[in-house]
Amino acid sequence: MARTALVTGGTRGIGAAISKALRDAGYTVAATYAGNDEAAAKFTDETGIKTYKWNVGDYDESKAGIGGVESELGPIDVVVANAGITRDAPFHKMTPEQWQQVIDTNLTGVFNTVHPIWPGMRERGFGRVIVISSINGQKGQFAQANYAATKAGDLGIVKSLAQEGAAKGITANAICPGYIATEMVMAVPEKVRDSIVAQIPTGRLGEPEEIARCVTFLASDDASFINGSTISANGGQFFV
Ligand SMILES: NC(=O)c1ccc[n+]([C@@H]2O[C@H](COP(=O)([O-])OP(=O)(O)OC[C@H]3O[C@@H](n4cnc5c(N)ncnc54)[C@H](OP(=O)(O)O)[C@@H]3O)[C@@H](O)[C@H]2O)c1
Repeated sequence: MARTALVTGGTRGIGAAISKALRDAGYTVAATYAGNDEAAAKFTDETGIKTYKWNVGDYDESKAGIGGVESELGPIDVVVANAGITRDAPFHKMTPEQWQQVIDTNLTGVFNTVHPIWPGMRERGFGRVIVISSINGQKGQFAQANYAATKAGDLGIVKSLAQEGAAKGITANAICPGYIATEMVMAVPEKVRDSIVAQIPTGRLGEPEEIARCVTFLASDDASFINGSTISANGGQFFV
């Protein structure tokens, strides 16, 4: 029987590429989103992948949403915690609201997404947890103290879950994308984009599909001995 995969933020950008790649690899996929109904409806029309709306920053909503997905599609075998936001500001101008929104979505959102799924994975003796972190969680970034803190925190979650889940057949791994050509990055002024590309030895932005292929590998049986790892997919921009 096909395994079931949940991709948070799976309707746009990197998440949409992940949802499609997992579907193409034979998974039954549920893609979630926060509020952009139009993008979600277009995504379902184009891909046939079911979408579900909840805020990953809210535990009760996440738990109820995940319960709904599992009763429709079956137990979740693969969870990709991809939903993420930025609220950039230099630290001296960063507001407590900007700090909190990013913590709620990018860090607590990972807890809220994985925690309700974890007991079932333990009972069934199989699971794949994949968290989409960021190059900026590895190296920090000007005006992203909030974002970098969450993405570094995500790596801590993954390394801990790797140790807790190993004996139960569960692996937990992270991917740290560099700059990827999503709407968010393509929306920045061309001059800024050029200055970003100048820092990437490969000489170009990454494609969402290049991250999606890392996910399908980590989700597969071929990756069974990879646990607690971080895959840096950044075109050589930063080495850990
Ligand atoms: N793009 C890059 O270059 C890059 C680089 C490194 C890491 N990343 C990470 O990769 C992940 C995806 O980034 P992206 O650029 O593809 O993002 P994106 O295009 O902005 O898409 C974000 C997705 O997450 C959903 N989302 C946002 N907040 C949510 C919430 N509170 N609850 C549920 N869903 C929520 C959005 O739903 P709606 O459509 O409803 O808004 C959307 O589906 C993020 O974690 C990001 O930090 C991105």
